Amino acid sequence: MPTDKSIPVITIDGPSGSGKGTISRMLAQELGYHFLDSGALYRLLALAAERRGIALDDEAALVVLSRELDIRFPAASDSEQVLLEGVDVNNEIRTEAAGAGASRVAVLPQVRTALLARQRNFRQEPGLVADGRDMGTVVFPDAGAKIFLTASAEERARRRYNQLKEKEMNLVFEDVLADIEARDERDANRTVAPLRPAADAALVDTSELDIPATIECVRYLLKNHLNR
Ligand code: DC
Repeated sequence: MPTDKSIPVITIDGPSGSGKGTISRMLAQELGYHFLDSGALYRLLALAAERRGIALDDEAALVVLSRELDIRFPAASDSEQVLLEGVDVNNEIRTEAAGAGASRVAVLPQVRTALLARQRNFRQEPGLVADGRDMGTVVFPDAGAKIFLTASAEERARRRYNQLKEKEMNLVFEDVLADIEARDERDANRTVAPLRPAADAALVDTSELDIPATIECVRYLLKNHLNR
């Protein structure tokens, strides 16, 4: 089904820990828009591959898997459920290990291409907030409003650590920081769809901003500087 280019899209890209997940979800809820968590697709693909014994660098097998994968995000944007073959795997895909797996499958060009149509199908009335790395550059280059959120690696590691420490008892801050730096490096230097702001994106550094201040800033940009 071709997607309608007149349906508004707000893209929110940036590295992990920049706050884009929380901000995108809040914004989608506020506007009554659909929400695409594109990172979850890469996380789900890595999880499904591991479960089926497919190596994370077996591009041909991963392409087939990404086409046939039964993935659903229940419609309400306030729900964090992510269904893989009908079972909620949200907790499993949010671990550091799943993130690292996602980052590995995300370097494969044919896997990215195979996931394009899936991502574009989220563009439905009345509009979409799309969260990821290449939403404004590759997946929705015609989006009317593009935002790129960033923050220092230390600040992002601190946020990630606070988020994960309740779930992962043996977590060490330095490991989280090293992981974030390795992932940044891989995401920024891959040949296909590297992490970079679209030329027409508004840049917001959230190192010194909490969530309410960030959402305030995003609302201001949308109202005064960007076309939805
Ligand atoms: O946003 P996240 O941490 O859930 O993303 C997990 C990994 O997936 C991240 O390391 C890079 C990859 N990713 C991507 O390459 N393109 C996207 N649009 C979203 C995520």
